[in-house]
Amino acid sequence: MTDNSRMDLVPIGLIHTPYSSRKDAPHQGRDSQEICEIELFSEYAHGLLDLERCTHLIVLYWLHLADRCCLIARPPRDGKEHGVFATRTPNRPNPIALDIVELLEVDGRRLKVRGMDALDGSTLLDIKPYSSGIDNIEGARIGWHE
Ligand SMILES: C[S@@+](CC[C@H](N)C(=O)[O-])C[C@H]1O[C@@H](n2cnc3c(N)ncnc32)[C@H](O)[C@@H]1O
Repeated sequence: MTDNSRMDLVPIGLIHTPYSSRKDAPHQGRDSQEICEIELFSEYAHGLLDLERCTHLIVLYWLHLADRCCLIARPPRDGKEHGVFATRTPNRPNPIALDIVELLEVDGRRLKVRGMDALDGSTLLDIKPYSSGIDNIEGARIGWHE
């Protein structure tokens, strides 16, 4: 039996991108046309059943080079200080990133996607289908971006 009260994360795969350093990666994958590859470890491949029927995915990955001590960030957008939880900074106590990507191809346990901002070799934590019906909130905004 799995003890679900323990907060254990298991790597379920690897992300392959052209970005070898933090400055090479786009701030948001949404801004990039680059095609990247997500490789699921074989023991999780069965979980891909029906995935090819999804157009877009939510990809959660581990920011392994992040600074986990920061609570204040200074994003490039305005150069001003904001609490990390009001930003998308990679430096945060639990460095989990979220990318919404376009699914281009499923080849066994390898997925070709567009829209990643992960460094090459980042650890895959989870994949969920993105749905405009479930996830899109018309007019949602970040006040300090304006
Ligand atoms: C601003 S964060 C946004 C991440 C995700 N789209 C989000 O909103 O949660 C993206 C930046 O994180 C950095 N990054 C990517 N992979 C990383 C990793 N494995 N460890 C630390 N930093 C990483 C890169 O500099 C990239 O430009």
